[in-house]
Amino acid sequence: MTWEKLYEDNMRCRKCSLCETRTNLVFGVGNTSAKVMFIGEGPGQQEDLQGVPFVGAAGKLLDDMLSIIDLDRTQVYIANIVKCRPPGNRDPLAVEQDACIDWLRQQVKLINPRIIVCLGRIAAKRLLDSDFAITRQHGIWFERGNVHMMAMYHPAALLRDDTKKPDTFFDLKSLQKKILEVCPETYAPLDNI
Ligand code: URA
Repeated sequence: MTWEKLYEDNMRCRKCSLCETRTNLVFGVGNTSAKVMFIGEGPGQQEDLQGVPFVGAAGKLLDDMLSIIDLDRTQVYIANIVKCRPPGNRDPLAVEQDACIDWLRQQVKLINPRIIVCLGRIAAKRLLDSDFAITRQHGIWFERGNVHMMAMYHPAALLRDDTKKPDTFFDLKSLQKKILEVCPETYAPLDNI
């Protein structure tokens, strides 16, 4: 499988009913050689309109969160559990996640990251543990094969509840430490990679 073929196949996807209501399928954005991946839940209204993940209010906060640890979208890859917007921004149904997850699996296989950060409860439950409790388990590192995984609060949750921000600051610092430990090249100037 090549990245181009995966993209083309994915863009034609009609595996679940979300394809009927999407404006754009939201494949992912960022550096396909990244060692760090962020995985959200699914596109919202702005993402559906623009075809790019995390471009609405939560996306702006995600960019700010990245900049706290000197990262931007060119150094990481950002995708979602489901690639098409669930109507009214409801949680993606299990049947929709099941239909979609293989696209993400193939993206992860091609990118081959060393670190995966789950953004929010839906991604953590799907990728880490179906019983994952985000309030208790955010910021904890898990190893899955060669990949270090952690969940942090979804930026939309931070927009709703300011009191979660200090915890997220510590989670970001922990992420920065992990990057410096396992894939410091993430911070290398692009022409040195
Ligand atoms: N929330 C998500 O989980 N993903 C997006 O792409 C946008 C908002």
